[in-house]
Amino acid sequence: MTAYNFNFSKVTSQTVEDLTAIFGVSGVSADAEKVEAYSRDEVAPHLLDKKYTADVVCFAENTEQISALMKYACSHRIPVTPRGAGTGLSGGAVPAYRGIELSLERMNRILDLDLDNLTITVEPGVVTSEINKAAAEKHLLYAGDPCSGDVSFIGGNVAENAGGNKVIKYGATGSHVLGLEVVLPDGRVTQFGGKRRKDVTGYDFVHLMVGSEGTLGIITKIILRLMPSPSFIVDLLVPFGTVQQAIKAVPEIMTRGKAVPSSIEFIDKQSMLLTEQYLQTKFPFSHEADAHLILQFEGNDRESLSDEIEKIGDICMENGALEIYVADNRTTKDKLWKGRKSIAEAVWSYAPVQIANEDIVVPTSRCAELMEGLQRICGECGVKYAAYGHLGDGNMHVSLYLEDETPQWKDIINNAKYALYDLVAQLGGTLTGEHGVGLKRAHDVARFLDSTQIDLIKRVKIAFDPDNILNPGKIVPW
Ligand code: LAC
Ligand code: ZN
Repeated sequence: MTAYNFNFSKVTSQTVEDLTAIFGVSGVSADAEKVEAYSRDEVAPHLLDKKYTADVVCFAENTEQISALMKYACSHRIPVTPRGAGTGLSGGAVPAYRGIELSLERMNRILDLDLDNLTITVEPGVVTSEINKAAAEKHLLYAGDPCSGDVSFIGGNVAENAGGNKVIKYGATGSHVLGLEVVLPDGRVTQFGGKRRKDVTGYDFVHLMVGSEGTLGIITKIILRLMPSPSFIVDLLVPFGTVQQAIKAVPEIMTRGKAVPSSIEFIDKQSMLLTEQYLQTKFPFSHEADAHLILQFEGNDRESLSDEIEKIGDICMENGALEIYVADNRTTKDKLWKGRKSIAEAVWSYAPVQIANEDIVVPTSRCAELMEGLQRICGECGVKYAAYGHLGDGNMHVSLYLEDETPQWKDIINNAKYALYDLVAQLGGTLTGEHGVGLKRAHDVARFLDSTQIDLIKRVKIAFDPDNILNPGKIVPW
C-alpha cells in the first residue's frame, strides 16, 4: 500500500495571493486572531495533545471556488480542513497540519423545498434549526435534532452523522440524507444519490460520506428527506428513585406500552443539579430522584395520544417513577428542552479544566451494567461524574471531573476514562455514538476497531484522497 505523505508545503504570501484570486479579497484572511478562532471547535484545547492552528482561512461562496481550491491545494501540497459552525466535539474541524481552513458559513442557502418529493435541498452552511423551521412552515418534519441545532450547520451534522434527541424513532442525520453534491479532494465535483428513496446502483457513497468527518470530500449540497409533521407532541418528565429503575422502564415502554417515543433522554442527579445551578432556573425536576427521563410522544389524534401517555405513565409508575410531569404547551416544553440542551454547557462551566466529555454507546440491553460500572470505576479512581444523554439509543455522555485542582488531574481522569472504555468494549459498545473520532479520539480507536478495520479506513481514505490533502491525520492513528 502506498505510504501516506504527511509532508506539506508552507503557506506563503504567494499562497494567500493565489487564494485571493479564487475567493476574492473578502474571502481570505491570514489575520492571526481570526485564523485561530476558525481553527477551533468545541473541544477544549487542553484535551488535545497540542495547539493546532491553520495558516489562512478561506470563505467559500460556491462549489466552483471549492473545486478550484482543491486543485490548487493538491498541486501545491497544502492541506485543507473544512469546517461548519465549529460546534463539533471531537476536533474534526481542527487543522492537524496547519494549511488552509475552509469555512462553509457563506454557503447558507435553502435551495429548494420540494413538496412532491418531500425533500429539502440545502447548502452546507444552513443552520440546522432553519431547516426544521422551513419544513415546519409547510407542516413537514425534518427530524434531525442535535442539541446544538440552533447553532450547528447541516454540513457539519452530515459530516459527523450527528445524532441528537430523536434518533430512537427517526435515526441519526444519515437516515435523512438522500443525496449529496461533493467536491472530491482532487477538485472533481460529483453527486451521490439524489431525490430518490431507493438506490442500489453501485456502492452507497452517500452514507460513506455521512460521518466521514470531512476526510473524503467537501459536501456542497445536501438533499434531505422530509416527512409529515405530527399534529400533537407531548413531553413527559419522569423522575425515578434510582438510575436502574429509569433504565428498566425503557424497554417496557416499547414492549408493553407498544409505543416508540420520539425521544428517550436520561439525566442523572449530578447533571440535573449542575444544570439548575448554571441556568439559575427552577425546573420541574424532583430532588428526591436519582434520575429523570424525558419521553416525547407524537400523534395526530389528541385522544389516542392521551390514552397512550396514560398507559406509559402507568408503566413508569410500576417501574419506580415518583410522578409524571406532562409538558403539553410550548412554554413548558421549551423550558424542559432548554434544560436538557444546556447540560453539556452546564457541566463544562462547572469543571472547565478537569473534564473528559465522553460519547460512549452500548447495546441498549447493557445500559444497566454500563451505569453500574461507571459508578464503580469512578469510586475506585476517585473521580466525579455527570452522565446524561440518549438512553433510548444506549448513547451516554459522561463527563469525568475532579472538584479540586491537582497537578495529576489528567492521569487520574484518564485512568477512569480507560477503565470505562474497557467496560464499554466488554459490553459490546463503542467509542463514540454521535460526536465523532476526529482528532480527539484518533488514538483510542484501536481499542474498538481491529487492525483489519483500521487498514480498510486507510485504504478508503487513499482511494478518495491519494494526495492526503483533505483534513489529514484524523479518525485513526497514522
Ligand atoms: C448532548 C450533546 C452533548 O446530547 O451531544 O447534549
Ligand atoms: Zn448528545
